[in-house]
Amino acid sequence: MPFDIQKIRNDFPILSRKVNGYPLVYLDNAATSQKPQQVIDCIVDYYSNYNANIHRGVHTLSQEATDAYETARKKIQTHFNAKEAYEIIFTAGTTHGINLVANGFSEILKKGDEIIVSAMEHHSNIVPWQMLCEKTGALLKVIPMNEEGILVFSEYEKLLSEKTKLVFVNHISNALGTINPIAEIIEKAHEVGAAVLIDGAQSCSHIKPDLQKLDADFYVTSAHKMCGPTGVGILYMKEEWGNKLPPYQGGGEMIAEVTFEKTTYAGLPHKFEAGTPNICGGIAFGAAIDYLNAIGFEAIEKYENKLLKYATEKLLEIEGLKIYGTGPDKTSVVSFNVEGIHPYDIGTIVDKLGIAVRTGHHCAQPIMEFYKIPGTVRASFAFYNTMEEVDALVAAVKKAKLMLS
Ligand code: ALA
Repeated sequence: MPFDIQKIRNDFPILSRKVNGYPLVYLDNAATSQKPQQVIDCIVDYYSNYNANIHRGVHTLSQEATDAYETARKKIQTHFNAKEAYEIIFTAGTTHGINLVANGFSEILKKGDEIIVSAMEHHSNIVPWQMLCEKTGALLKVIPMNEEGILVFSEYEKLLSEKTKLVFVNHISNALGTINPIAEIIEKAHEVGAAVLIDGAQSCSHIKPDLQKLDADFYVTSAHKMCGPTGVGILYMKEEWGNKLPPYQGGGEMIAEVTFEKTTYAGLPHKFEAGTPNICGGIAFGAAIDYLNAIGFEAIEKYENKLLKYATEKLLEIEGLKIYGTGPDKTSVVSFNVEGIHPYDIGTIVDKLGIAVRTGHHCAQPIMEFYKIPGTVRASFAFYNTMEEVDALVAAVKKAKLMLS
């Protein structure tokens, strides 16, 4: 299918609205993506026509909802190339998936075991492991990064030993856009027998991962970064880990049998899916994946790389502007500051011109500490953004600079 930007933009109703009297220029896609009509229609269809609880009723609506939910799980399995559909656990999002794994490992880790994270993690991939270390006496080690915002692989290799039990790395840094070499990271971790969790929250909208080829043990992401709704995501776990880890929450649907003396648990994936799930969210996640695949990830990547290159070149023409995250393997995120101006002030002024960017530490305070800055302005592009929108951003930052310096 040819990449028809106007046709794609027409799928997103929100892109035609105005903000503060200007056409919306939405450049906060790393925080959450916008939703195409196809996903919105899927949500309306569910609540209008077959809303029911799943896995529970013999009645028609319940069966229709169950079929749609399990079909979505299969779509997700195919998309990520997981071996089995039951290795895909529906969660409330990336953070939920990480906490589920951390909780499981609290029964496996011993004092003196080591966990490795990277210097460019989101807080959601730092705090749960610190909590896990406090509970178990395990130690947290950090792969450092360099000035360009690239992980120092040789330092990672030095940290690995037979004490390493877990490695947690994001595929793409939300604050810098750096694409991490996850295949090599996984391979090295496996050489010492450590399990690896990949945080795919920032990568899934740009890159289609092949989980069997990568050989990841765990992989987490959120639907809302991929044109789906908020409040739903997935945790992929290899079957062997699914069988090893204890349930995270107790409740309905995750049991085989309950008596007051003893409860036995259901098999995968239900063991980790206590309570009524976000049924509509799961189904709409499947619709979002269909939508993205119809455009095609190769086309998305190619187009977004053009946006990144153009935005980088144009922004760097502004005197005093510095970009953080300058490695060669990057996705369409540009994090920057203008000398002498607080990022929040730039964010506020560009918003007055209809442009949505994120400002602050992006839930990645260690990165800001590394660069000794309070935060950045982050413009994160999606396949529905245009070169004209890049121009609008550049003009707005120039205007902000004039007003503030
Ligand atoms: N983690 C999201 C971001 O980077 C919310 O903005």
